[in-house]
Amino acid sequence: MDLAAAAAARDATDPLAGYRDRFSIPDPDLVYLDGNSLGPLPRRTRTAIAETVDREWAGGLVRSWDRWLDLGTRAGALLAPLIGARHDEVALSDQTSVNLYKLAEAAVGADPSRPDIVTDVDNFPSDRYILDGVARRHGGRLRDVPADPTVDDVAAAVDERVGLVSLSLVNYRSGALADLKGITALAHDAGARVLWDLSHAAGVVPVDLAGVEADLAVGCTYKYLNGGPGSPAFLYVRRDLQGALTQPIAGWWGHDDMFGFEPGYRPAPDIRRFLTGTAPIVSMVGAAEGIALCADAGIEAIWAKSQSMTSWFIELAHEHLAALDFEVATPTGAGRRGGHVALRHDAAWPIVQALRDRDVIVDFRHPGIVRYGFSPLYNRYHDVAAAIEVTADVVASGSYRTYPDLPAAVT
Ligand SMILES: Cc1ncc(COP(=O)(O)O)c(C=O)c1O
Repeated sequence: MDLAAAAAARDATDPLAGYRDRFSIPDPDLVYLDGNSLGPLPRRTRTAIAETVDREWAGGLVRSWDRWLDLGTRAGALLAPLIGARHDEVALSDQTSVNLYKLAEAAVGADPSRPDIVTDVDNFPSDRYILDGVARRHGGRLRDVPADPTVDDVAAAVDERVGLVSLSLVNYRSGALADLKGITALAHDAGARVLWDLSHAAGVVPVDLAGVEADLAVGCTYKYLNGGPGSPAFLYVRRDLQGALTQPIAGWWGHDDMFGFEPGYRPAPDIRRFLTGTAPIVSMVGAAEGIALCADAGIEAIWAKSQSMTSWFIELAHEHLAALDFEVATPTGAGRRGGHVALRHDAAWPIVQALRDRDVIVDFRHPGIVRYGFSPLYNRYHDVAAAIEVTADVVASGSYRTYPDLPAAVT
């Protein structure tokens, strides 16, 4: 199998090829396909963080808060066009899990007659735990729909007791892309709000939150947005809902006049009311840099390359890996998948370890899934071809058999 020439031809005409140099990739031969878990370091981020630490923290000390205070809403405004939101509808704060809790609680708390929440059985576990807790605290329950739900699946679960539908736009395991427009419209027709988790979509899939009139959304910045480990998450609240919803963690950063130090809580009228406490400024600077890089490339160009890479990968997987007992677990149709491709194999975990030892970094998800995450700003078509070739080799040669079967702590 010689795919190198085909990959080189594609790389030669790739309009985003130049962006790879903007990242600090430790080794030119490394095939890094785990940016859907942790994106690599953008070079500018190192400089920006160094300036924040040396000049603003070490030099400016507390005086630097003047320039830091609104970083979360400024970074949110930068992110907004990437997810189809208006500039004042997005802010960076906390973690995805915490933001999901705040927005789910705000939505369900607004209508006591609708305490039930609809989600899918394969939604990210943290989301499921939090949604279950919110529903129970309001005397309701979590209603499950099948994994990778269709509009009809959701329709079958929604009635007048459901106040919220909360789904991931791209499933973290299968890579399936949900019908943002159809599900949002269906939930609205039934009188429920929708809360989208965009963690596996932001920075790779163009999302039209305002266009579909989505109510609420959250997502992380350390995957395709390359914000860095543990970088702050984002939250989106549609403009007309901001004044109407009350989030449960009434902290001073959500107060209308935070430096007035009033004894009672008076929420800000805008997106700031969904903030809580002091922002992690150094991490926030990393998130802002990562977002700026995606914004510079443009989400449509990123998405075009993403689809091109994943469709080529799927085609090659059918051609070269099916005979080695791999099965494509991601929906294959255009418009039905996000930025990563999941392959199912009984020996998925040993295969992942064997690939990592051959400098092809992918990850494992239960049960028996190898995830290949393609991030258009730094991945090359060379990486697509190499992933197929090395995967075929570790299985055909049997080299994966020397690795343990049981998953490690971090997979
Ligand atoms: C889809 C999805 N939602 C939520 C989370 C949780 O994010 P956090 O750990 O930042 O709360 C993750 C983490 O990977 C995720 O993939």
